[in-house]
Amino acid sequence: MSQHQSKKRIGLMTGGGDAPGLNGIIEATVCALRGTAVELVGICDGFEGIYSGSTVQLTPEGVRGFHGAAGTLLGTSNKSGTRGREAEFLKAYGNLKLDGLIAAGGDGTFEGLSRVIQGLKLIGVPKTIDNDLAGTDVTFGFDTACAVVAEAVDALRATADAHRRVIVVETMGRTSGWIALGGGLASYADVILIPEMPASREKLKANILSLRGQGRRGVMVVVGEGACFQGEKPRVAFRVPGSPQAERYGGIAEEIARWIEAETGWESRHVVLGHLQRSRHPTTTDRFITASMGVEVARMVTEGDWGKAVVVRGGLVTRAPLSDIMKPARLVTPDHRWVNVARSLGLFI
Ligand code: F6P
Repeated sequence: MSQHQSKKRIGLMTGGGDAPGLNGIIEATVCALRGTAVELVGICDGFEGIYSGSTVQLTPEGVRGFHGAAGTLLGTSNKSGTRGREAEFLKAYGNLKLDGLIAAGGDGTFEGLSRVIQGLKLIGVPKTIDNDLAGTDVTFGFDTACAVVAEAVDALRATADAHRRVIVVETMGRTSGWIALGGGLASYADVILIPEMPASREKLKANILSLRGQGRRGVMVVVGEGACFQGEKPRVAFRVPGSPQAERYGGIAEEIARWIEAETGWESRHVVLGHLQRSRHPTTTDRFITASMGVEVARMVTEGDWGKAVVVRGGLVTRAPLSDIMKPARLVTPDHRWVNVARSLGLFI
């Protein structure tokens, strides 16, 4: 860079629930922009940092080695948005004197940004452990969440077999069943229940009784937190006021465990994996995605290619219009190949 060339001041924020790989995006983007005419400014705590003007300088020395850590070194929030605060947001954003913004977030973050998009030069980085963002084949964080589920189910199988019990494991995922399906399939769980495919209580009971008839000692059930049975409604545990998606799901695993025990006499327990699925160092698969995405984001910044998202398509990291990731959630379809594999393995889904 020549001494006379003025630096562009670009913001980088992480928004919504944390996902394994967010630190990888930060480190890769910062490293790939070293020596360019770009000054990267980290925005603290998602939208909160824009409203309050809270920022940190991002340098290669400051972020080195963070790619392997859970969480996000910038902090994040899934409690605030821009609805009804559009003018306040644009004023606060203007005060930061940024030449552009890179936002790594999920549907809540992009819903918020879509309300103020006219005032922004934006690059979107889709992230969520739920894997339900449109416009990309996969989101980083999802592979790690599936690994947590698979390791838990494999581990709990020993106790289920030792005690002749049914153990029901509840995963995150909100209204989508990607984590329950991916983690349940990777661990060959006997039963996988997802929000997109409400099961029949009678068929599940018959399946459990048939496993007992085959002499099985233990049974592993994986259920997505937003799943329910046919004709029933998902269980909203509580609501978070101000959150772009206020409902927090939970309680289905306990209900199923109690129901199985009452209906079949087979002793049952439940385990809720909760935030362990997010607070874990990213798998190598998630690290490959975030390293490639960070490098691509850096190229987009230096080329001035704003109004785009960096996505995964056909196994490659590539660019797409921002509007592609601002569409309704991408859910599991009943004919998805993983559903077919699970059925071929004899799993109940
Ligand atoms: O969207 C990510 C997610 O982890 C969901 O799977 C889960 O329902 C929700 O966030 C939990 O949110 P919180 O961190 O507010 O409990």
